Amino acid sequence: MSPRRRNCAVDLSPAAIAWAEERARAVGAGIRFHRGDAFDLTTDGLGGPYALIYDSGCFHHLPPHRRISYLALLERALAPGGHFALTCFASGRMGSELPDAALYRQARLHGGLAYSPGSLRWIFSDLTEVELRRMHDEPPESPHFGEPFLWTALFRCAA
Ligand SMILES: C[S@@+](CC[C@H](N)C(=O)[O-])C[C@H]1O[C@@H](n2cnc3c(N)ncnc32)[C@H](O)[C@@H]1O
Repeated sequence: MSPRRRNCAVDLSPAAIAWAEERARAVGAGIRFHRGDAFDLTTDGLGGPYALIYDSGCFHHLPPHRRISYLALLERALAPGGHFALTCFASGRMGSELPDAALYRQARLHGGLAYSPGSLRWIFSDLTEVELRRMHDEPPESPHFGEPFLWTALFRCAA
């Protein structure tokens, strides 16, 4: 199946979707927004495959066991040869560094999980790493987003 040409975006939060719609309108970006669970994208024909999937800040909010369904989602939704980009909390800078078992014992995610380059490489080891680095720090007046407490990563799926 060839990749979808349409740009789609999903978030659970109506406020996040409303804000994103406003920003997309302001720059004339044609994006189909969907409020819902990213793990349930078969609805409304949003299942892909996509040439590019970008997760901006969702992965680090998921409990550890959801990494399995997250990988299954990528496998389903990413086109052969497609790219997966990720922005997530950088260990040592932001997020909980508790072991997975402690998160379950405490039944809390502590605002999000920190990831090390090693843990990201291990989790996404079925993909080829193109780049994995700390995000550039962008000043408030910059038109670009950039926070140094985040990793920014790009992986490629086998063709
Ligand atoms: C740190 S915010 C990032 C928001 C936005 N993507 C950005 O970069 O500014 C994390 C977002 O992940 C969304 N989220 C968490 N779990 C989700 C899920 N299962 N499906 C869709 N969105 C989810 C939350 O609603 C929240 O808006």
